Amino acid sequence: MGPKVLCTVVSCLLIAYYVYSPLPENIEEEWKVMLYNTIGRSLFIEKIGLMHQGEILFMVTSLLNTEPISDENLTVTDTTFVGVPVRLYVPTKKLDGLKRAVIYIHGGALSFGSAAMLSYDSLTRRIAGELDAVVVSSDYRLVPKYHYPAQVEDVYKVVKFFLKDEILAKYGVDPTRVCISGDSVGGLAAASVTQLVMVDPEIKNKFRMQALIYPFLQTIDTDLPSHRENEHGIILTKAMLLKFLSNGITHDKTLEQALATNRYIPAKFSHLFKFVNWSLLLPEKLKKRHIYTKPIYGSSKIVEKFPEIVDLRASPLLADDSTVCKLPITYILTCEHDVLRDEAFMYVSRLRSNGVKVIHDHLEGGFHALLFFTTPPVTLRISFELVNLYLRGLNENL
Ligand SMILES: *[C@@H]1O[C@H](CO)[C@@H](O)[C@H](O)[C@H]1NC(C)=O
Ligand SMILES: *[C@@H]1O[C@H](CO)[C@@H](O)[C@H](O)[C@H]1NC(C)=O
Repeated sequence: MGPKVLCTVVSCLLIAYYVYSPLPENIEEEWKVMLYNTIGRSLFIEKIGLMHQGEILFMVTSLLNTEPISDENLTVTDTTFVGVPVRLYVPTKKLDGLKRAVIYIHGGALSFGSAAMLSYDSLTRRIAGELDAVVVSSDYRLVPKYHYPAQVEDVYKVVKFFLKDEILAKYGVDPTRVCISGDSVGGLAAASVTQLVMVDPEIKNKFRMQALIYPFLQTIDTDLPSHRENEHGIILTKAMLLKFLSNGITHDKTLEQALATNRYIPAKFSHLFKFVNWSLLLPEKLKKRHIYTKPIYGSSKIVEKFPEIVDLRASPLLADDSTVCKLPITYILTCEHDVLRDEAFMYVSRLRSNGVKVIHDHLEGGFHALLFFTTPPVTLRISFELVNLYLRGLNENL
Protein backbone atom coordinates (compact mmCIF):
# COMPACT_ATOMS: atom_id res chain seq x y z
CA MET A 1 0.00 0.00 0.00
CA GLY A 2 1.55 3.35 -1.03
CA PRO A 3 1.65 6.29 1.41
CA LYS A 4 -1.06 8.13 -0.62
CA VAL A 5 -3.52 5.27 -0.35
CA LEU A 6 -2.76 4.85 3.31
CA CYS A 7 -3.31 8.55 3.86
CA THR A 8 -6.66 8.45 2.07
CA VAL A 9 -7.81 5.41 4.04
CA VAL A 10 -6.81 7.02 7.34
CA SER A 11 -8.54 10.32 6.45
CA CYS A 12 -11.73 8.49 5.47
CA LEU A 13 -11.68 6.57 8.75
CA LEU A 14 -11.16 9.77 10.71
CA ILE A 15 -14.01 11.55 8.91
CA ALA A 16 -16.26 8.52 9.39
CA TYR A 17 -15.35 8.48 13.07
CA TYR A 18 -16.15 12.20 13.38
CA VAL A 19 -19.43 11.95 11.48
CA TYR A 20 -20.63 8.67 13.00
CA SER A 21 -23.32 9.09 15.62
CA PRO A 22 -25.83 6.43 16.55
CA LEU A 23 -29.31 7.16 15.18
CA PRO A 24 -32.72 5.68 15.95
CA GLU A 25 -33.31 2.44 13.97
CA ASN A 26 -35.93 3.72 11.59
CA ILE A 27 -33.87 6.56 10.08
CA GLU A 28 -33.36 6.05 6.35
CA GLU A 29 -30.22 7.10 4.45
CA GLU A 30 -28.41 7.13 7.77
CA TRP A 31 -24.92 8.17 6.56
CA LYS A 32 -26.37 11.20 4.79
CA VAL A 33 -28.33 12.13 7.92
CA MET A 34 -25.20 11.74 10.08
CA LEU A 35 -23.27 13.98 7.70
CA TYR A 36 -25.94 16.72 7.66
CA ASN A 37 -26.20 16.44 11.42
CA THR A 38 -22.44 16.90 11.84
CA ILE A 39 -22.43 19.92 9.51
CA GLY A 40 -25.40 21.42 11.39
CA ARG A 41 -23.69 20.96 14.77
CA SER A 42 -20.44 22.45 13.42
CA LEU A 43 -22.31 25.62 12.40
CA PHE A 44 -23.78 25.94 15.87
CA ILE A 45 -21.03 28.21 17.15
CA GLU A 46 -21.68 30.68 19.94
CA LYS A 47 -19.50 33.49 18.60
CA ILE A 48 -16.78 34.25 16.08
CA GLY A 49 -15.14 37.55 16.96
CA LEU A 50 -17.96 40.04 17.16
CA MET A 51 -20.41 37.86 15.27
CA HIS A 52 -23.24 36.23 17.21
CA GLN A 53 -24.52 32.75 16.53
CA GLY A 54 -27.59 34.04 14.69
CA GLU A 55 -25.44 36.22 12.45
CA ILE A 56 -23.11 33.32 11.64
CA LEU A 57 -26.04 31.06 10.72
CA PHE A 58 -27.59 33.89 8.74
CA MET A 59 -24.38 34.46 6.78
CA VAL A 60 -23.96 30.77 5.99
CA THR A 61 -27.58 30.21 4.96
CA SER A 62 -27.54 33.41 2.86
CA LEU A 63 -25.07 31.64 0.57
CA LEU A 64 -28.00 29.40 -0.34
CA ASN A 65 -30.24 32.26 -1.45
CA THR A 66 -31.57 32.44 -4.97
CA GLU A 67 -32.89 35.26 -7.14
CA PRO A 68 -36.62 35.44 -7.89
CA ILE A 69 -36.88 33.55 -11.19
CA SER A 70 -40.08 33.65 -13.25
CA ASP A 71 -40.99 30.92 -15.72
CA GLU A 72 -43.81 30.15 -18.16
CA ASN A 73 -46.23 29.40 -15.29
CA LEU A 74 -45.23 31.80 -12.51
CA THR A 75 -44.25 35.43 -12.14
CA VAL A 76 -41.89 35.66 -9.19
CA THR A 77 -40.89 39.02 -7.72
CA ASP A 78 -39.29 40.42 -4.58
CA THR A 79 -41.21 43.35 -3.17
CA THR A 80 -42.36 44.76 0.16
CA PHE A 81 -45.78 44.79 1.83
CA VAL A 82 -46.02 47.71 4.28
CA GLY A 83 -42.26 47.80 4.59
CA VAL A 84 -41.77 44.05 5.13
CA PRO A 85 -39.86 42.18 2.37
CA VAL A 86 -41.86 39.43 0.67
CA ARG A 87 -41.33 37.15 -2.31
CA LEU A 88 -44.45 36.91 -4.40
CA TYR A 89 -45.44 34.03 -6.71
CA VAL A 90 -48.33 34.76 -9.07
CA PRO A 91 -49.55 32.11 -11.55
CA THR A 92 -49.54 33.52 -15.10
CA LYS A 93 -52.33 31.32 -16.51
CA LYS A 94 -55.61 33.19 -16.54
CA LEU A 95 -58.24 30.69 -15.49
CA ASP A 96 -61.88 31.51 -14.90
CA GLY A 97 -62.62 32.39 -11.31
CA LEU A 98 -60.48 33.39 -8.39
CA LYS A 99 -57.38 31.67 -7.06
CA ARG A 100 -56.40 30.31 -3.68
CA ALA A 101 -53.59 31.99 -1.71
CA VAL A 102 -50.98 30.87 0.81
CA ILE A 103 -48.95 33.20 3.03
CA TYR A 104 -45.77 31.29 3.91
CA ILE A 105 -43.50 32.01 6.90
CA HIS A 106 -40.04 30.42 6.82
CA GLY A 107 -38.29 28.81 9.80
CA GLY A 108 -34.73 29.34 11.07
CA ALA A 109 -34.82 29.76 14.85
CA LEU A 110 -35.85 33.46 14.46
CA SER A 111 -32.26 34.21 13.52
CA PHE A 112 -31.66 32.91 10.00
CA GLY A 113 -33.37 31.75 6.82
CA SER A 114 -35.27 33.77 4.26
CA ALA A 115 -37.95 33.48 1.61
CA ALA A 116 -35.06 33.56 -0.87
CA MET A 117 -33.34 30.46 0.55
CA LEU A 118 -33.16 27.77 -2.12
CA SER A 119 -35.16 25.22 -0.11
CA TYR A 120 -37.93 27.74 0.72
CA ASP A 121 -38.02 29.10 -2.81
CA SER A 122 -38.43 25.58 -4.18
CA LEU A 123 -41.22 24.83 -1.66
CA THR A 124 -43.21 28.03 -2.26
CA ARG A 125 -42.75 27.63 -6.02
CA ARG A 126 -44.25 24.14 -5.78
CA ILE A 127 -47.17 25.40 -3.69
CA ALA A 128 -47.93 28.11 -6.27
CA GLY A 129 -47.50 25.73 -9.22
CA GLU A 130 -49.35 22.68 -7.90
CA LEU A 131 -52.23 24.55 -6.27
CA ASP A 132 -52.39 27.27 -8.94
CA ALA A 133 -52.28 29.64 -5.97
CA VAL A 134 -50.85 33.06 -5.25
CA VAL A 135 -48.05 32.65 -2.66
CA VAL A 136 -46.73 35.42 -0.43
CA SER A 137 -43.50 34.22 1.17
CA SER A 138 -42.79 36.66 3.97
CA ASP A 139 -39.54 37.63 5.64
CA TYR A 140 -39.34 39.22 9.09
CA ARG A 141 -36.77 41.01 11.23
CA LEU A 142 -34.27 38.64 12.79
CA VAL A 143 -32.47 37.94 16.06
CA PRO A 144 -30.01 39.12 17.45
CA LYS A 145 -30.91 42.64 16.29
CA TYR A 146 -34.63 42.23 16.88
CA HIS A 147 -36.11 40.07 19.60
CA TYR A 148 -39.48 38.38 19.85
CA PRO A 149 -42.25 39.49 19.19
CA ALA A 150 -40.87 41.70 16.35
CA GLN A 151 -41.13 38.65 14.08
CA VAL A 152 -44.83 38.10 14.75
CA GLU A 153 -45.49 41.82 14.39
CA ASP A 154 -43.95 41.84 10.91
CA VAL A 155 -45.96 38.83 9.80
CA TYR A 156 -49.14 40.33 11.23
CA LYS A 157 -48.54 43.52 9.24
CA VAL A 158 -48.13 41.55 6.00
CA VAL A 159 -51.25 39.51 6.73
CA LYS A 160 -53.40 42.54 7.56
CA PHE A 161 -52.31 44.20 4.35
CA PHE A 162 -52.83 41.16 2.13
CA LEU A 163 -56.29 40.31 3.53
CA LYS A 164 -57.74 43.68 2.46
CA ASP A 165 -60.47 43.39 -0.19
CA GLU A 166 -58.66 45.57 -2.70
CA ILE A 167 -55.34 43.69 -2.35
CA LEU A 168 -56.94 40.26 -2.70
CA ALA A 169 -58.85 41.57 -5.73
CA LYS A 170 -55.64 42.95 -7.27
CA TYR A 171 -54.09 39.45 -7.24
CA GLY A 172 -57.30 37.65 -8.22
CA VAL A 173 -57.55 35.82 -4.87
CA ASP A 174 -60.75 34.27 -3.47
CA PRO A 175 -61.17 35.93 -0.01
CA THR A 176 -62.65 32.69 1.40
CA ARG A 177 -59.67 30.53 0.39
CA VAL A 178 -56.58 32.01 2.04
CA CYS A 179 -54.20 29.93 4.16
CA ILE A 180 -51.30 30.89 6.40
CA SER A 181 -48.50 28.40 6.79
CA GLY A 182 -45.00 28.01 8.17
CA ASP A 183 -42.45 25.59 9.60
CA SER A 184 -40.73 25.54 13.01
CA VAL A 185 -40.69 29.15 14.30
CA GLY A 186 -42.47 30.09 11.06
CA GLY A 187 -45.17 27.68 12.27
CA LEU A 188 -45.18 29.55 15.57
CA ALA A 189 -45.67 32.88 13.77
CA ALA A 190 -48.41 31.35 11.60
CA ALA A 191 -50.26 29.83 14.59
CA SER A 192 -49.92 33.00 16.61
CA VAL A 193 -51.06 35.34 13.82
CA THR A 194 -53.99 33.03 13.03
CA GLN A 195 -55.23 33.46 16.61
CA LEU A 196 -54.89 37.25 16.32
CA VAL A 197 -56.64 37.41 12.93
CA MET A 198 -59.61 35.27 13.95
CA VAL A 199 -60.53 37.67 16.78
CA ASP A 200 -59.46 40.98 15.16
CA PRO A 201 -62.61 43.00 14.34
CA GLU A 202 -60.63 45.13 11.87
CA ILE A 203 -60.00 42.13 9.63
CA LYS A 204 -63.03 41.09 7.63
CA ASN A 205 -61.52 38.35 5.48
CA LYS A 206 -60.43 35.53 7.79
CA PHE A 207 -58.24 32.51 7.03
CA ARG A 208 -59.87 29.37 5.72
CA MET A 209 -56.91 27.36 6.90
CA GLN A 210 -53.61 27.28 8.79
CA ALA A 211 -50.91 24.72 7.94
CA LEU A 212 -48.16 24.13 10.49
CA ILE A 213 -45.05 22.04 9.86
CA TYR A 214 -43.25 20.86 13.03
CA PRO A 215 -44.18 24.15 14.77
CA PHE A 216 -42.78 25.61 17.97
CA LEU A 217 -45.86 26.29 20.16
CA GLN A 218 -45.05 26.89 23.81
CA THR A 219 -42.47 28.29 26.24
CA ILE A 220 -43.54 27.07 29.69
CA ASP A 221 -42.61 23.38 29.79
CA THR A 222 -39.18 22.21 28.63
CA ASP A 223 -39.53 18.65 29.92
CA LEU A 224 -42.15 17.01 27.71
CA PRO A 225 -41.56 13.39 26.62
CA SER A 226 -40.28 14.63 23.23
CA HIS A 227 -37.76 16.89 24.99
CA ARG A 228 -36.57 13.88 26.98
CA GLU A 229 -36.39 11.48 24.05
CA ASN A 230 -34.70 13.94 21.70
CA GLU A 231 -32.32 15.59 24.11
CA HIS A 232 -29.57 14.68 21.61
CA GLY A 233 -31.96 14.85 18.67
CA ILE A 234 -31.01 14.97 15.02
CA ILE A 235 -30.32 18.49 13.68
CA LEU A 236 -32.06 20.10 16.67
CA THR A 237 -30.98 19.06 20.18
CA LYS A 238 -32.75 20.19 23.32
CA ALA A 239 -29.76 22.38 24.27
CA MET A 240 -29.95 24.09 20.87
CA LEU A 241 -33.68 24.59 21.25
CA LEU A 242 -33.26 26.27 24.63
CA LYS A 243 -30.47 28.48 23.35
CA PHE A 244 -32.52 29.55 20.32
CA LEU A 245 -35.55 30.20 22.50
CA SER A 246 -33.54 32.24 24.98
CA ASN A 247 -31.69 34.18 22.25
CA GLY A 248 -35.05 34.90 20.63
CA ILE A 249 -36.05 36.86 23.70
CA THR A 250 -32.86 38.31 25.16
CA HIS A 251 -29.06 38.54 25.12
CA ASP A 252 -29.10 37.78 28.85
CA LYS A 253 -27.79 34.26 29.59
CA THR A 254 -29.81 33.81 32.79
CA LEU A 255 -32.89 32.93 30.77
CA GLU A 256 -31.22 29.99 29.05
CA GLN A 257 -30.09 28.62 32.42
CA ALA A 258 -33.59 29.01 33.84
CA LEU A 259 -35.18 27.26 30.85
CA ALA A 260 -32.97 24.22 31.46
CA THR A 261 -34.26 23.85 35.04
CA ASN A 262 -37.93 23.77 33.94
CA ARG A 263 -38.91 25.64 37.09
CA TYR A 264 -39.10 29.25 35.98
CA ILE A 265 -42.85 29.90 35.87
CA PRO A 266 -44.34 31.23 39.14
CA ALA A 267 -47.48 29.74 40.70
CA LYS A 268 -49.41 32.82 39.58
CA PHE A 269 -49.49 31.22 36.11
CA SER A 270 -50.49 27.75 37.32
CA HIS A 271 -53.73 28.00 35.29
CA LEU A 272 -51.66 27.70 32.07
CA PHE A 273 -50.30 24.26 32.90
CA LYS A 274 -53.49 22.43 32.02
CA PHE A 275 -52.67 23.33 28.40
CA VAL A 276 -49.33 21.49 28.54
CA ASN A 277 -50.64 18.60 30.62
CA TRP A 278 -49.33 15.82 28.44
CA SER A 279 -50.83 13.11 30.64
CA LEU A 280 -54.20 14.35 29.35
CA LEU A 281 -53.33 15.73 25.93
CA LEU A 282 -50.93 13.19 24.41
CA PRO A 283 -51.98 9.89 22.82
CA GLU A 284 -50.97 6.73 24.74
CA LYS A 285 -48.36 5.72 22.15
CA LEU A 286 -46.31 8.85 22.95
CA LYS A 287 -46.61 8.71 26.72
CA LYS A 288 -44.92 5.32 26.72
CA ARG A 289 -42.93 4.82 29.89
CA HIS A 290 -42.79 8.51 30.80
CA ILE A 291 -44.12 9.52 34.18
CA TYR A 292 -46.08 12.74 34.51
CA THR A 293 -45.21 14.90 37.50
CA LYS A 294 -46.90 18.06 38.68
CA PRO A 295 -45.30 21.34 37.53
CA ILE A 296 -42.74 22.80 39.92
CA TYR A 297 -43.18 26.55 40.21
CA GLY A 298 -40.33 29.03 40.37
CA SER A 299 -39.90 32.51 41.77
CA SER A 300 -41.40 35.39 39.79
CA LYS A 301 -37.97 36.80 38.87
CA ILE A 302 -37.69 35.30 35.39
CA VAL A 303 -41.19 36.22 34.24
CA GLU A 304 -40.80 39.76 35.59
CA LYS A 305 -37.56 40.18 33.70
CA PHE A 306 -38.70 38.40 30.52
CA PRO A 307 -42.49 38.72 30.26
CA GLU A 308 -42.32 37.30 26.68
CA ILE A 309 -42.06 33.87 28.34
CA VAL A 310 -45.77 34.02 29.14
CA ASP A 311 -46.81 36.07 26.09
CA LEU A 312 -49.45 34.10 24.15
CA ARG A 313 -47.84 35.24 20.93
CA ALA A 314 -44.87 33.02 21.85
CA SER A 315 -47.11 30.17 23.06
CA PRO A 316 -50.26 29.72 20.97
CA LEU A 317 -50.78 26.36 22.72
CA LEU A 318 -51.71 28.32 25.86
CA ALA A 319 -54.61 30.26 24.32
CA ASP A 320 -57.89 29.55 26.10
CA ASP A 321 -60.83 27.66 24.62
CA SER A 322 -62.72 30.81 23.64
CA THR A 323 -59.90 31.60 21.14
CA VAL A 324 -59.10 28.05 20.12
CA CYS A 325 -62.70 27.30 19.10
CA LYS A 326 -62.57 30.12 16.53
CA LEU A 327 -59.60 28.66 14.64
CA PRO A 328 -59.90 27.69 10.98
CA ILE A 329 -59.25 24.28 9.40
CA THR A 330 -55.83 23.22 10.61
CA TYR A 331 -53.21 21.04 8.97
CA ILE A 332 -50.39 19.91 11.29
CA LEU A 333 -47.37 17.85 10.38
CA THR A 334 -45.25 16.31 13.13
CA CYS A 335 -42.05 14.22 13.05
CA GLU A 336 -41.34 11.26 15.32
CA HIS A 337 -37.80 12.22 16.38
CA ASP A 338 -38.42 15.93 16.94
CA VAL A 339 -37.91 17.71 20.24
CA LEU A 340 -40.97 19.85 19.32
CA ARG A 341 -43.20 16.88 18.54
CA ASP A 342 -45.36 16.85 21.68
CA GLU A 343 -46.46 20.47 21.73
CA ALA A 344 -47.85 19.99 18.22
CA PHE A 345 -49.64 16.78 19.28
CA MET A 346 -51.17 18.66 22.23
CA TYR A 347 -52.32 21.46 19.93
CA VAL A 348 -54.03 18.81 17.78
CA SER A 349 -55.86 17.51 20.89
CA ARG A 350 -56.86 20.98 22.04
CA LEU A 351 -58.16 22.01 18.63
CA ARG A 352 -60.11 18.79 18.12
CA SER A 353 -61.75 18.99 21.54
CA ASN A 354 -62.81 22.54 20.62
CA GLY A 355 -64.51 21.35 17.45
CA VAL A 356 -61.83 22.57 14.99
CA LYS A 357 -61.26 20.38 11.93
CA VAL A 358 -57.67 19.08 12.09
CA ILE A 359 -55.74 17.10 9.49
CA HIS A 360 -52.70 15.60 11.19
CA ASP A 361 -49.86 13.87 9.35
CA HIS A 362 -47.25 12.23 11.56
CA LEU A 363 -44.02 11.21 9.89
CA GLU A 364 -42.46 8.14 11.51
CA GLY A 365 -38.68 8.25 11.10
CA GLY A 366 -38.88 12.01 10.50
CA PHE A 367 -37.01 14.73 12.39
CA HIS A 368 -36.86 18.50 12.70
CA ALA A 369 -35.83 20.77 9.79
CA LEU A 370 -36.46 18.18 7.04
CA LEU A 371 -37.51 21.02 4.73
CA PHE A 372 -33.86 22.08 4.46
CA PHE A 373 -33.05 18.86 2.61
CA THR A 374 -35.03 19.21 -0.60
CA THR A 375 -32.61 20.85 -3.01
CA PRO A 376 -29.65 19.06 -4.63
CA PRO A 377 -27.02 18.24 -3.60
CA VAL A 378 -28.51 18.24 -0.08
CA THR A 379 -31.51 15.94 -0.28
CA LEU A 380 -33.27 13.23 1.71
CA ARG A 381 -36.04 10.98 0.43
CA ILE A 382 -38.07 11.57 3.58
CA SER A 383 -37.98 15.34 2.99
CA PHE A 384 -39.75 14.87 -0.34
CA GLU A 385 -42.24 12.61 1.40
CA LEU A 386 -42.91 15.43 3.88
CA VAL A 387 -43.43 17.98 1.12
CA ASN A 388 -45.79 15.65 -0.73
CA LEU A 389 -47.91 15.04 2.38
CA TYR A 390 -48.04 18.77 3.07
CA LEU A 391 -49.02 19.70 -0.49
CA ARG A 392 -51.77 17.07 -0.44
CA GLY A 393 -53.05 18.47 2.88
CA LEU A 394 -53.13 21.98 1.45
CA ASN A 395 -54.65 21.02 -1.87
CA GLU A 396 -57.46 18.94 -0.36
CA ASN A 397 -58.47 21.44 2.32
CA LEU A 398 -57.89 24.94 0.99
C1 LIG B 1 -45.65 24.71 -16.41
O1 LIG B 1 -46.85 23.97 -16.24
C2 LIG B 1 -46.97 22.85 -17.10
C3 LIG B 1 -48.37 22.26 -16.89
O2 LIG B 1 -48.67 22.09 -15.55
C4 LIG B 1 -45.85 21.87 -16.81
O3 LIG B 1 -45.93 20.74 -17.66
C5 LIG B 1 -44.51 22.58 -17.00
O4 LIG B 1 -43.44 21.71 -16.62
C6 LIG B 1 -44.44 23.83 -16.12
N1 LIG B 1 -43.21 24.57 -16.41
C7 LIG B 1 -42.28 24.80 -15.46
C8 LIG B 1 -41.09 25.60 -15.88
O5 LIG B 1 -42.38 24.40 -14.30
C1 LIG C 1 -52.86 16.71 34.59
O1 LIG C 1 -53.72 15.62 34.34
C2 LIG C 1 -53.79 14.68 35.42
C3 LIG C 1 -54.74 13.57 34.98
O2 LIG C 1 -54.21 12.85 33.89
C4 LIG C 1 -54.25 15.33 36.69
O3 LIG C 1 -54.21 14.39 37.73
C5 LIG C 1 -53.35 16.52 37.01
O4 LIG C 1 -53.86 17.22 38.13
C6 LIG C 1 -53.28 17.46 35.82
N1 LIG C 1 -52.34 18.51 36.12
C7 LIG C 1 -52.51 19.80 35.74
C8 LIG C 1 -51.47 20.77 36.14
O5 LIG C 1 -53.45 20.15 35.05
